[in-house]
Amino acid sequence: MVYPIVKYGDPVLEREADEVTDFGTPELEQFLEDMFESMYAAKGVGLAAPQIGFSRKISVIDISNAENPADKLVLINPQIVRMEGKQVGEEGCLSIPTFREQVKRAKRVTVRAQDAKGEFFEKTGEDLLARAFLHETDHLHGKLYISHISALKRDLIRRKVRKLVKAGEWD
Ligand code: NI
Repeated sequence: MVYPIVKYGDPVLEREADEVTDFGTPELEQFLEDMFESMYAAKGVGLAAPQIGFSRKISVIDISNAENPADKLVLINPQIVRMEGKQVGEEGCLSIPTFREQVKRAKRVTVRAQDAKGEFFEKTGEDLLARAFLHETDHLHGKLYISHISALKRDLIRRKVRKLVKAGEWD
């Protein structure tokens, strides 16, 4: 099923998510399927469980936007283990729709995570994939990309969101 995306302002987005301890269950398989479905429906390249209201350390990524099945990635309890270089580029978030900002990130990132069966693996990504690893792992620690931009720009986004909330256009 497709879950609605939780928007910025909901506390679930800013709290540390719970570690996953149950692997290889039909419930987890179904949840992962729902996460991919929800991500594709929202036209995102990454989605973290808190963004559909579940405080669990699970992210899914597909930088090909469903074009290439080999790009489908499941990261459970992920940890960033290596970061190299630098890239500056536009970043957005399904939970903060319509806003985009320049964000400085590492260019090459290695993540260590568990798969649906609980097996540990490491994967290294560059450019957009590196950015996705960092962005989605941040989500599981209650951190949004706007924590990486200037306080001035962040406050501007907050003010605009507050207006949208008042106008009933942020739900
Ligand atoms: Ni996001």
